[in-house]
Amino acid sequence: MKIAVIGTGYVGLVQGTCLAESGNDVVCIDKIAEKVEGLKRGKIPIYEPGLAELVHRNTRDGRLSFTTSLAEGIREAEIVFIAVGTPQGDHGGADLSGVWAVGTQVAEVLEEPKILVIKSTVPVGTNAELARRMKEIARVPFDVASNPEFLKEGAAIEDFNKPDRVVVGARREEVADKLHELYAPFLRTDRPFLVMSPESAEMTKYVANCLLATKISFINEMANLCEAYGADINEVRRGIGHDQRIGFHFLHPGVGYGGSCFPKDVRAAIHMATSKGMPARMMESVDEVNEAQKHVLFGKLKAHFKDALGSATIAVWGLAFKPRTDDIREAPALVLIDALLKEGATVRVHDPEAIPNVKAIYGDKIAYCDRPYGAIEQADALVIATEWNEFRNPDFEVMRRLLRQPVIFDGRNVYDPARMAALGFAYEGIGLPPCRG
Ligand code: UDX
Repeated sequence: MKIAVIGTGYVGLVQGTCLAESGNDVVCIDKIAEKVEGLKRGKIPIYEPGLAELVHRNTRDGRLSFTTSLAEGIREAEIVFIAVGTPQGDHGGADLSGVWAVGTQVAEVLEEPKILVIKSTVPVGTNAELARRMKEIARVPFDVASNPEFLKEGAAIEDFNKPDRVVVGARREEVADKLHELYAPFLRTDRPFLVMSPESAEMTKYVANCLLATKISFINEMANLCEAYGADINEVRRGIGHDQRIGFHFLHPGVGYGGSCFPKDVRAAIHMATSKGMPARMMESVDEVNEAQKHVLFGKLKAHFKDALGSATIAVWGLAFKPRTDDIREAPALVLIDALLKEGATVRVHDPEAIPNVKAIYGDKIAYCDRPYGAIEQADALVIATEWNEFRNPDFEVMRRLLRQPVIFDGRNVYDPARMAALGFAYEGIGLPPCRG
């Protein structure tokens, strides 16, 4: 099939590349010329495991191309995906200016009927409003469908190739059938292709992300409670997770969720409720708990070092909002670094991928280290903010030698507290009884 994807951000680039990989002819369109030129030369603007190889191969084999010209890019396409950003706007709602701008441009150049598919996360009612706006301009009939994405950063290609489900909001059966044809190669036999109204499809994305965010804030609040009463959240997790109604997924305590989706989508859901004069008590609490959780590590450091924190050197491992990405949007590590700098502490950081992005924010205010051990040299404590695999089994003897004090604050519960105590570390996780080696 001939496909166009507008927007070469995270979602658009993965969408376009994976569709090309399955044999479709894909043109990716972006208004930023520098980005398009880079992509043509194989320069990928984001880090996502496996993506660079797929872009290279499909560009080389002629199934994937890039352009800044929307008119040219969509000319041949039967299906046009809109994957532009919908960042948080004023008052917490999603900023849809990108979607409206693209819709207008498409309507202006449309020469024959096409299916437009909104891939960006948009508030309920956007599909209908986009169709209305475009109808005022377009000279030919067209369809607007909704197809929310459920890709996890760091595992996006695998998620695309093996979706748990594909959700499509369409008003006409022919449109749903066409999209089914496109996605059929990716659907394993037990995974459904779900057709619903565009409003339900738009809502599905928010409900999914709000529920996932709720699970995280819930377990974080329970972890803090465990800590206050000397219980162990790891034991409690085992105690609850075997109940089939509860399970183990997405209930890892930590330093709060970050990234481009959960914080923004929870706030957009709050905004959707308040715009209708409805309360959003659950989502407001989820957001509030999460913001507070991002300060938990600093609180622990302050309790440990007291007034000496201002003259301490703190090493931070992991800066991206989660492993296997260089994305630092709403990353808990940044909240910690801000607080440490405000306190006057010296900060040394390491992350396998995110350092260039962090450097762009902090410049020479903190020290950047290519290797994890470099960051802990002469540090008074190590803090783990993101659970990259390379932090899971380090040489603890080397670490004890390099650290000025054998103190670890683990925001992701990566290590076994008993083992850490036996190795002589003072170790504190999230929701665990503190242990002193
Ligand atoms: C998420 C959704 O999973 C995806 O379906 C949606 O389309 C986009 O948003 P992503 O933001 O890439 O994907 O990350 P995800 O792996 O879901 O993690 C989000 C955040 O939650 C991370 O900060 C992670 O550290 C945190 N998290 C996740 C926890 O703190 N505990 C958990 O148990 C799970």
